[in-house]
Amino acid sequence: MRGLLVFATLFVAALCKDTFVGDKVLRIIPKNEAQLSLLKEMEEMPEMDIWRGVTGVGIPVDIRVPFHQLSSVKIHLQKHDIEHSTMIEDLQVLLDEEQQEMESSARFAQPRNTDSFDYANYHTLDEVGTQFGNAPRLKPLSQTQIYRFQDMLVAENPSLVSKIVIGQSYQGRALNVLKVSKAPILRPIVFSLFSTGGTNRPAIWIDTGIHSREWVTQASGTWFAKKIVTDYGRDPALTAILDKMDIFLEIVTNPDGFYYTHNSNRMWRKTRKPNPGSSCVGVDPNRNWDAGFGGPGASSSPCSETYRGPKAHSESEVKAIVDFVKAHANIKAFISIHSYSQMLLYPYGYTSTPVKDQAELHNLAKKAITDLASLYGTYYRYGSIINTIYQASGGTIDWTYNQGIKYSYTFELRDTGRYGFILPANQILPTARETWLALVTIMNHTFQNPY
Ligand SMILES: *[C@@H]1O[C@H](CO)[C@@H](O)[C@H](O)[C@H]1NC(C)=O
Ligand SMILES: [Zn+2]
Repeated sequence: MRGLLVFATLFVAALCKDTFVGDKVLRIIPKNEAQLSLLKEMEEMPEMDIWRGVTGVGIPVDIRVPFHQLSSVKIHLQKHDIEHSTMIEDLQVLLDEEQQEMESSARFAQPRNTDSFDYANYHTLDEVGTQFGNAPRLKPLSQTQIYRFQDMLVAENPSLVSKIVIGQSYQGRALNVLKVSKAPILRPIVFSLFSTGGTNRPAIWIDTGIHSREWVTQASGTWFAKKIVTDYGRDPALTAILDKMDIFLEIVTNPDGFYYTHNSNRMWRKTRKPNPGSSCVGVDPNRNWDAGFGGPGASSSPCSETYRGPKAHSESEVKAIVDFVKAHANIKAFISIHSYSQMLLYPYGYTSTPVKDQAELHNLAKKAITDLASLYGTYYRYGSIINTIYQASGGTIDWTYNQGIKYSYTFELRDTGRYGFILPANQILPTARETWLALVTIMNHTFQNPY
């Protein structure tokens, strides 16, 4: 009976989801400037889903091509003598495997606490208590969701962890931030948080999942939260940091998009706000910040995956962080985590003018990726955004740097393109563990170098 129910649930859930049968992810390596500009044109074509954008000659570009476009795209590439290989043969095959893994892990009982939480698997949000949802009230089988995890962590560690709601997503989901702090908790929390002008303890901000399809980031963020709580009082470096500084962690930074990746379209990147006058939904929340907003390296077209939005901070998911950072006024490091391509980046993305702390940020990035690699040998590139990947305007850490947050960094986690966004769950823990080493290096440096 239970089996039948499960089957029925799966069947209905499957019906509402976009499928990607026969879609390929192509890897293209441009040989010269002419090919570069052709690829840039291709990036703008509707229905091309850019997994890894055009950087420069010799650097791979990964594009998901829908099945029905494959032959025309291949002809186009051949005509211009552009070589390509197939990175993912049939995207749906990978997605089915991923779904099966989530379902088999969800067979186990719901975890009663964060010790028994399954960190090695992907999890949904938690729709319990959310008013919104035009999808049927059928949840994927996994009951061990991230919002529940956050609440358990807070309940288990009331003197160390609290949950702050910094705003609401477009669709009305709570924008939850975990605050890890050894400072005496003043009640109400809202009061202590938004008291203005430097009375807040110096703090480190970490966010994951602002691009919703980058699932390894939310999964790693969940692990980081548990790791911070576990290591406090045990690991001398982290303990020293937390005795002076607070850590804020937003694990599901784009909850509408995240819900959508689980229930409708696994490849969703943007927010879910409709765009007036267009049938295309959503804004790229990493092009929506007031730093070079509207400049090159972001699209003005609502159908683009890098659509910047109608104006800076138009997205409530972005605006909530902007308001939080300004009200807090004492954030010293801001780390925004993406995937994939294995890079550690610092500002700027919108301009080639180097930041005034370039040398320090560069050296610290080098140290961080060296520490990261010490665990499994995972190789990261590093540098400023514009020099390492491409010009991108309206990005998160350009804005935070311009707000005076010197240690502003972006990670691009695993991998370099074997699986891309569909990183198998068995890489979650290794990814989180190695990334943690780099995070500690950045946090420790921030702690050791007050400004
Ligand atoms: C933290 O920084 C100090 C000073 O640079 C250094 O001596 C120490 O080894 C660092 N600890 C960690 C865990 O990075
Ligand atoms: Zn991203």
